[in-house]
Amino acid sequence: MIDRKTITKENLINLIQNSKTMEDAASKLGVDRRTLLRLREKFGVVHISANVNNKHEVRYEEEIKQPTLNEALGRIPEVSKTPWTGVHLSDVPKEDILYKGDCYISGSALPKSITQLNLNADNNLNLLRKVLVDNLPKEEKKKPSLEKFTGFIGKKTREVEMEAIQSKLLIDTNDYTHVVISDCQVSPGVDTSYLEWIGKYIAYVKPQRIICLGDFADMKSLYNYKKESFDSEEYKADVKSAKDAMAILMKPILEEIAKTEWKPSLDLTLGNHEHRITKVAKADKKIGSFISVDDLEYEKYGWTVHDFLVPVTLDGIAYCHYFTATNMGAPIPSAKNLVDRKHMSCVMGHRQHYETHRASRPDGTTIVGLLAGSSYVHDEDYLGPQNNDYSRQIWVLNNIDRGSFTPVPIELKQLKRVYGN
Ligand SMILES: [Fe+2]
Repeated sequence: MIDRKTITKENLINLIQNSKTMEDAASKLGVDRRTLLRLREKFGVVHISANVNNKHEVRYEEEIKQPTLNEALGRIPEVSKTPWTGVHLSDVPKEDILYKGDCYISGSALPKSITQLNLNADNNLNLLRKVLVDNLPKEEKKKPSLEKFTGFIGKKTREVEMEAIQSKLLIDTNDYTHVVISDCQVSPGVDTSYLEWIGKYIAYVKPQRIICLGDFADMKSLYNYKKESFDSEEYKADVKSAKDAMAILMKPILEEIAKTEWKPSLDLTLGNHEHRITKVAKADKKIGSFISVDDLEYEKYGWTVHDFLVPVTLDGIAYCHYFTATNMGAPIPSAKNLVDRKHMSCVMGHRQHYETHRASRPDGTTIVGLLAGSSYVHDEDYLGPQNNDYSRQIWVLNNIDRGSFTPVPIELKQLKRVYGN
């Protein structure tokens, strides 16, 4: 048996080349397959294999850069001569694989984040479309024949996304985990279907804590409040839209809680949009006698509601709609600034774009600043045509330990591919 602590790149390649399968190679090394793949990645050893008419031919090359599938195709002439008869997208986190008939081609890839997974999936689909079109019989090339493949590719993509989302590589559900929902800015008429995807995903992950960073309700009716312009019908419509949206988000979560042992804590830090209600109520006692932030009924779903700008610390991580940078109350502008000023892990919403910053402490722990960005799918008119291109996501905080955590963005467009209709 080879000692994995002293193994070199050369004897790793020899070991793999002289093994029938990756499992064989792993067992010779006395490790599991995943550890072997990590070692391979560590040494920058790229694996390309072809299985032609059941004759397995394996080639290993030493490269730091992952070849594109196009490059990989060019390196295996036996495969490129064979007409394409079918396409299969494999488990993207492990390997990119194109099948054609009895043949497949694979290039090793161990992407670590869901963003990379999306990139790989998109790149693969573009390549697959090109390969399919280029290899259609000549008479079919004249017709728009791609449509017959799109259903198949769409189904496969959905399966791949589902596998990726459920992959323990991304979310280790054995770890202590928080899920963070940032600003949703719900107002009458905006699409809230994504909240069902978020609810279903949270019910799948089953984090110990769920945190909503506020500005869940947009409360447009109270923007630039003036006594004479207050419209109680608009206010009621705003409140109703937020309550309806919260019901959509919480339905899958509450159903899962009812049928399992899962008992997450729910904390919601009010944002400046919800705070508009309190501000108006204070400014005008008459209106204040019949409006209150309680109208939003967040507590009804089990949320512990924290006042605007009052941070709550959970497992060593401070949460707030935003943290202030000055005595005047301006929001902290960057994740680095958050860490530099607050000296502990902090998570905030309020800003459209997300940002993370990590710093180490002498005691071996790390502190993380996370500006969580936006958790809605609609565009905001006030941002204009050039400023709505920010990413939309929720966050899983993995590996929580003494305030340290690993932030994992879960993009709403990926949740849509899995849970959307
Ligand atoms: Fe805000």
